[in-house]
Amino acid sequence: MRTIVVTGGTDGMGAALARHYLATGHRVVVVGRSRAKFEALVAAAASLSPSAPSRGEFVAADLTLVEDGRRVADQLKENHERIDALVLAASFIRRRRHRTPEGHEASWSLFFLSKYVFVTRLAGPLRAAGRPVIVNTAVPGARPDAIAFDDLEMVDGFTFRRSNAQQRRANELLGILATGHNPDLGYVTWGPARLVRTAFAGDVGTGMKSAAAVLGRLLGQRPEDAIQPIIGIIDSPTPGRAAYRGARPRPLTVGAHDEKDAARLASAVEETLYRPDSATSRTRPC
Ligand SMILES: NC(=O)c1ccc[n+]([C@@H]2O[C@H](COP(=O)([O-])OP(=O)(O)OC[C@H]3O[C@@H](n4cnc5c(N)ncnc54)[C@H](OP(=O)(O)O)[C@@H]3O)[C@@H](O)[C@H]2O)c1
Repeated sequence: MRTIVVTGGTDGMGAALARHYLATGHRVVVVGRSRAKFEALVAAAASLSPSAPSRGEFVAADLTLVEDGRRVADQLKENHERIDALVLAASFIRRRRHRTPEGHEASWSLFFLSKYVFVTRLAGPLRAAGRPVIVNTAVPGARPDAIAFDDLEMVDGFTFRRSNAQQRRANELLGILATGHNPDLGYVTWGPARLVRTAFAGDVGTGMKSAAAVLGRLLGQRPEDAIQPIIGIIDSPTPGRAAYRGARPRPLTVGAHDEKDAARLASAVEETLYRPDSATSRTRPC
């Protein structure tokens, strides 16, 4: 029996993975906002496989809040000696810049800072797994220069496109840091091959929401189908970094200064997250 932690595990692809691993008898820790959705997925897993023991655990968190990310990561570290797989799939799409009560830009916080906290704080239980794997659903392939190092929270010039590219690139660099500390770790940035019919949680306006719903119905994959390659990656982990769209490996994006950029990112984030007044800190005032 393995222990699989899934952030954003109450809906969409995260929930499909949680159902699959519960139905196949593994321990699954779901991090998300809605306990009701968690209970529904546990019931669905039980109906898929009535003989599988129920080993689901729910941890409520708002992962746009760094403090919540830290609390949950520390709780997981305390309660689980070993984590075999960490799936980072929490998602809430915002077209506009939004400031959290902690003073961070909300998309940067959810799509990168919380992931950084999970990856770094759970390094111990992941190491204990022997062949651990992190699947980070940050679609690979953003440009190497997508990070605004002097304005990580995009006080100036925020657009959805810039913010999205920055977090995707940052999540690729996070893989350099994570595998640098643990060469046995598999770290995969993964995006679906095409649109997946999910909740598309977000503040995106009715136009985009309806377009996604219509396109999803016409062209989208079911989450249960879209996650099959992720199951393959988790069940046969390979050490080192990799990138996938669906089941197809993609070349890793290679920039001129990747190691240096990863270290620069880590030190900027550590400075933001771990200085004493971190609850209200930021790399530049919001
Ligand atoms: N769907 C696609 O076609 C597509 C395409 C490219 C990339 N992706 C990526 O794939 C991943 C999964 O996407 P999806 O479409 O399956 O997601 P989704 O159906 O929209 O579900 C989002 C999940 O994130 C959780 N969540 C949202 N805000 C949160 C917060 N502040 N704190 C904690 N959890 C929060 C939600 O929890 P609650 O339900 O409990 O609120 C839910 O479990 C994301 O990284 C997404 O960017 C998806």
